[in-house]
Amino acid sequence: MIHRREIRLKINGAEVGGTVEPRRTLADFLRENLGLTGTHLGCEHGVCGACTVLIDGATARSCLTFAVQVDGCEVSTVEGLARDGEWHPLQQAFHENHALQCGFCTPGMLMSASELIKRNPDPDESDVREALAGNLCMCTGYINIVRAVLAGARMTREGADESGETRSS
Ligand code: FES
Ligand code: FES
Repeated sequence: MIHRREIRLKINGAEVGGTVEPRRTLADFLRENLGLTGTHLGCEHGVCGACTVLIDGATARSCLTFAVQVDGCEVSTVEGLARDGEWHPLQQAFHENHALQCGFCTPGMLMSASELIKRNPDPDESDVREALAGNLCMCTGYINIVRAVLAGARMTREGADESGETRSS
């Protein structure tokens, strides 16, 4: 008999529960159990960063994390970035700066960038390159991605100045 475990967690602010085999990865749980296919799977062994999500606010490889490990945690995925039908400033900046071609790496890039600007709202280019060092892109050459993250950080700061508040992701 296959042993299964009940888990409960928050995903993008919503309470979610499920019963999973202990060997089920978080990436498979998100994509196959919950239909959150914005989290992409590339290498499936921790190299490419396409599967990056935030667990309790910190970046993590969902291909290397078992779903049972996030029991009781708060997980953020790319689906949680937009609010009320409006893109997150980083998404807007990726669009405006042509920071993607095939788009396969983009969800992971966005999640790593969102963690960076939460931690450091005014990053410089080297901060951005360091934060994205674990996210591989096979198409763009990174220049526009770095530009987009700097622009997204600026837009987020300006938005916070106008509204007097900071977005949580
Ligand atoms: Fe997880 Fe590549 S799919 S790091
Ligand atoms: Fe194709 Fe990055 S846009 S892998």
